[in-house]
Amino acid sequence: MPDVAGEKGLQLNEQTLSMRLERVAAQVPAGARLADIGSDHAYLPVALLRRGAIAAAVAGEVALTPFSAAQRTVRDNGLEQQVSVRLANGLAAIEPADGISAISICGMGGETIRDILDSGKAHLNGQERLILQPNGGEQPVRLWLMENGYRILCEEILRENRFDYEIIVAERAGPVTYSAEQLYFGPLQMQARSPAFLAKWQSILRRKQQTLANFARARHAVPEAKVQQVARQARWITELLA
Ligand SMILES: C[S@@+](CC[C@H](N)C(=O)[O-])C[C@H]1O[C@@H](n2cnc3c(N)ncnc32)[C@H](O)[C@@H]1O
Repeated sequence: MPDVAGEKGLQLNEQTLSMRLERVAAQVPAGARLADIGSDHAYLPVALLRRGAIAAAVAGEVALTPFSAAQRTVRDNGLEQQVSVRLANGLAAIEPADGISAISICGMGGETIRDILDSGKAHLNGQERLILQPNGGEQPVRLWLMENGYRILCEEILRENRFDYEIIVAERAGPVTYSAEQLYFGPLQMQARSPAFLAKWQSILRRKQQTLANFARARHAVPEAKVQQVARQARWITELLA
């Protein structure tokens, strides 16, 4: 993650969030009880508590070093009563008594976020707002949301340190259907066609076209299914940008 220092070398911490985490923070409802899964230094929940924006938080971490870092941030800010830091895998950090109303899972691959949601379903009460910020692999996240009755309420793309980040906000709403293209591009992004969205897909199209050219030149045959998949994606993107 290019997140050690922000633009212009700004030191990022619980007072100065990256632009990416600021955009995530903006999606957390006022007064929420937030579970931040994969919290690392717990900058997001601590920043929100320092601002009085949320009521309480759980910071979940699966790895010992970031878990200790999260404990330190919470202790340094005197927020031990409001933030529970827990060493746990995924949503296992959440206990029913926490009364969690929003869950953030940020800064990981989309497949990891999908796996965390899927293996932790038993810890969801269905009322939480999910605020997900995958680093790539958005399609599997959207597919999981659709298959589990979550409607996408907001989608955002932002560029920071030459990376494109997506934020997907969803709430449980009963059956919802998205087309294959909507799952790939994001249903709301496709409608809004923001400059950041179009720039992202222009750059992905160039990479897909390069991949197809490499496939054609490859000495060993690339499986036909793989070629077809990339060709289909390149066609979708070309149509999107037309
Ligand atoms: C790159 S950091 C992102 C930190 C922060 N969420 C952010 O967006 O800046 C990813 C963190 O997720 C944690 N993580 C990965 N898989 C996890 C899981 N299954 N449960 C809890 N934490 C996990 C990692 O240990 C790491 O600290």
